[in-house]
Amino acid sequence: MRSWIHHSRGRVLRQAVTGRHELGGLYEDMLTRQGFEGRDAYLYRRSEPTAWRHAEESAANRNYDGRLLEPTDRGSADGVPLRLFHNPHLSLHVSRRSANMPYSVRNTDGDELYFVHEGTGTFYTEFGPIPYEPGDYVLVPKGITYRIRPAGPENYFLVIESTEELGFADTGAFGRRAPFDPGLLYVPSPALDELGDGRDEDGQWPVRVKLRGERATIVFDSDPIDVEGWSGDLFPFKMNIRDYRPVMSDRIHVMPSAYAVFATSTFMVGNFLPRPFESAPDSEPFPPYHRNADYDEFTFFHNGTVLGVPIAPATMSLVPQGLHHGLPAELQEQLAKKLKPGDRIDSEVVFVDTKVPLTPTPDAEAVRRTDQEAGQTGKAAPAPSAG
Ligand SMILES: [Fe+2]
Repeated sequence: MRSWIHHSRGRVLRQAVTGRHELGGLYEDMLTRQGFEGRDAYLYRRSEPTAWRHAEESAANRNYDGRLLEPTDRGSADGVPLRLFHNPHLSLHVSRRSANMPYSVRNTDGDELYFVHEGTGTFYTEFGPIPYEPGDYVLVPKGITYRIRPAGPENYFLVIESTEELGFADTGAFGRRAPFDPGLLYVPSPALDELGDGRDEDGQWPVRVKLRGERATIVFDSDPIDVEGWSGDLFPFKMNIRDYRPVMSDRIHVMPSAYAVFATSTFMVGNFLPRPFESAPDSEPFPPYHRNADYDEFTFFHNGTVLGVPIAPATMSLVPQGLHHGLPAELQEQLAKKLKPGDRIDSEVVFVDTKVPLTPTPDAEAVRRTDQEAGQTGKAAPAPSAG
């Protein structure tokens, strides 16, 4: 049950996140527990909370140029994705596969959720082929054999591997058909691979099994993708972000957890997608400054701008738990002057919020932007966060 115990002391807004002009120059700063679902406090302070002069590296928000990543599967059909961030429950990888897999894969360690940033092609799975295009989430549950056949050389996948079964986030309060209609999931029908791909130089069918963190190969004399029929409630599927209809409010800024799509007990994956700005007279179009005390916030920038500020596609950011972030006040003022009723946010961002801190790998740190490159210059970058 929600806590009914709320105290207010000193100068505060009558209702948080509304009518900030009443603050007479104070900054609204949100501290939250359990993501956005636990206890919270809004602090009204004199100085911009992100206007630090200097932060030591371990206490800094992080920004990465994902276009510079070179997973081995970009240059070689035999290659693999590049691991970038991890905790005991999940790992985030990037794949830039440029050619057909001359093998099949099976992950026995966890579910794999592919977000397609760039490219088209097909996931051949035991359950049937799943065509992919930008904006798709392709979920391959643990233990399923598949291979990827790109239609062209330029592909870019963000891959989220979860040790716990990935399910849909609880959006029950919105009704069964919002924020997306489950009938729009693409569920494959069995089809044998007419091209007979997935073979090695000897014409055999290797399956690379990921097993307790290691890869081991099982070689078959026949294609392991040989299913002619399947029945059950366990299967791979895809959905596209165009079919996700963000729920919003005209009068109050809705917190990111409302946009969660997938969830486990330790993290959620969701998306910030195009929608109108809040435009009711006392509403605020920008989220408050924020410290997420119990969750790291990772974002992957797919497309668009952040409130009009150009952001390079495949930019990634990591805000460690408990650190301040938020849109710089100067930028908020500039944008607020230009905003007209009906103006829309145009960004397409995938986020992963994790209860257990994420550790970046050296491969991720190699493409980390400096504060200057990230536009932070002593203040918070316009991280593609909605709260
Ligand atoms: Fe946040």
